[in-house]
Amino acid sequence: MIAIGSDHGGFELKQHIMKHLDELGVAYKDFGTYTEDSVDYPDIAKAVAEPIAAGEYEKGILICGTGIGISIAANKIHGIRAALCCDVYSAKMCRQHNDANILCLGGRVTGRELAFLIVDTYLDETFAGDRHQNRINKIHALEK
Ligand code: RB5
Repeated sequence: MIAIGSDHGGFELKQHIMKHLDELGVAYKDFGTYTEDSVDYPDIAKAVAEPIAAGEYEKGILICGTGIGISIAANKIHGIRAALCCDVYSAKMCRQHNDANILCLGGRVTGRELAFLIVDTYLDETFAGDRHQNRINKIHALEK
């Protein structure tokens, strides 16, 4: 189960991605925002990231205008590794090397079809473990 959320800047792309997930048969929960009215992206980041950090959802997708603000905010939650991806290679590597548990996208930056490829890649790839796990452990040591 995927947790998904966006601010107003990512609202339109989120609607397209949810339809894409429906077509793929991927289950998700939408944590808002539910209209194009202006909201604050840290509130949406918190709503999605906290249940992921608590183990209620395996992965998430967060979208704001650039993907920058919402990724910065999500990464403040302990246990979250949110990766802003604007290309397919980064989506692949953020899973293989960083075990990213949230994919961030920029709704005003990344076109719909590229976003679908990035989402598909993010969902398909797995963590490579081994030396990368040691590095993840060091990231979490920084949270202490
Ligand atoms: C909202 O206008 C915009 O600042 C937000 O969506 C995001 O791009 C912030 O990083």
